[in-house]
Amino acid sequence: MKNRHIVSALLCSLFLMACGGNASQMAVSEKSLKEVVGDKFLMGVALNVRQSSGMDTSALKIVKQHFNAIVAENCMKSEEIQPKEGEFHFEDADRLVQFGLDNGLTVTGHCLIWHSQLPEWFCVDDKGKNVSPEVLKQRMKTHIQTVVGRYKGKIKGWDVVNEAIMEDGSYRKSKFYEILGEEFIPLAFQYAHEADPDAELYYNDYGMDVPGRRDGVVKLVRSLKEKGLRIDAVGMQGHMGMDYPDIRQFEKSMLAFAATGVKVMITEWDMSALPTAMRSANVSDTVAFKKALNPYPEALPDSVSQVWNERMQQFFQLFEKHADIVERVTAWGVTDGDSWKNDFPIRGRKDYPLLFDRNYQPKDFVRKMIEEASDSVTSAKK
Ligand code: XIL
Repeated sequence: MKNRHIVSALLCSLFLMACGGNASQMAVSEKSLKEVVGDKFLMGVALNVRQSSGMDTSALKIVKQHFNAIVAENCMKSEEIQPKEGEFHFEDADRLVQFGLDNGLTVTGHCLIWHSQLPEWFCVDDKGKNVSPEVLKQRMKTHIQTVVGRYKGKIKGWDVVNEAIMEDGSYRKSKFYEILGEEFIPLAFQYAHEADPDAELYYNDYGMDVPGRRDGVVKLVRSLKEKGLRIDAVGMQGHMGMDYPDIRQFEKSMLAFAATGVKVMITEWDMSALPTAMRSANVSDTVAFKKALNPYPEALPDSVSQVWNERMQQFFQLFEKHADIVERVTAWGVTDGDSWKNDFPIRGRKDYPLLFDRNYQPKDFVRKMIEEASDSVTSAKK
């Protein structure tokens, strides 16, 4: 009898020791990132088609556990959804929206008018010449209203125009601008609003810390508002690196956008852990150069990981500090293995830019936030 007690006490302490060693993993499974964030802002993530089609079940587990908002990484872009004029391919987008509805996730539409991932036919005639302003307006209207109309009432808001303002605040000389001038932006907002008057409408861009672009975007938002058009938020893409953006400049832009009366969203958050690629570098030794640009093909060294985690945490704290103006923070992919940064701006690098690693584990700064929140719940209960 006595022996049985001793054995079970031993087993019990062994079990507790094992739990102690694994405390962090236990805490992680107890609480989730979205619970940590609470009602400060939505915690979103971009899904690729392997995920929205249900194939990548490990990633979907993370999505359901840790996030409450989703966006399509690619499948709603014009090239994907209307590759030929009048030929709409909705299968992937439908699945993504349905996945969101089934799981109570807020769905964002990305994106309606963008110079990139734009099908060739969109702005030209069959001889390859620019179409007239009237034809382009009609094509924009049909595209926007067909896509927005299909998901009316299901999608909370749309990135209506993406990446239209340059670093110096001027308009990007895209086909849309070439043919319609500045008017293409208010028109896009008007068409989207007509298709779903309840949907929120956003302007989305990258490099938003740059003062010239900040001023250009502020001017644009003001001009849309002056025209009486709906615009709910500015999306700051949030593609970052170890040496950019400057956090104070980023904060300045957040405040400048909010001062126009719209909300702010961090729409495509990732932080490359690799050296920022110098496009103009004079490469004499390509092998050495490639090695220097892709320095961690096996794993991210602890020292780099620590700096990366600290920097991510600083930005996360910035978003929390301004929770009154930040509506949503969306990671641009679920795990590092999914990230576009593995192929951009240089193909075939191994990057570590997202909130979860290739083994579907949270990065240190995420894990710590979850642990701390779990601890505070436990101590509040005491
Ligand atoms: C990227 C996707 O992540 C890649 O898979 C694709 O090959 C190219 O586009 N700005 C945007 C996003 O608004 O749509 C882009 O997404 C990244 C930059």
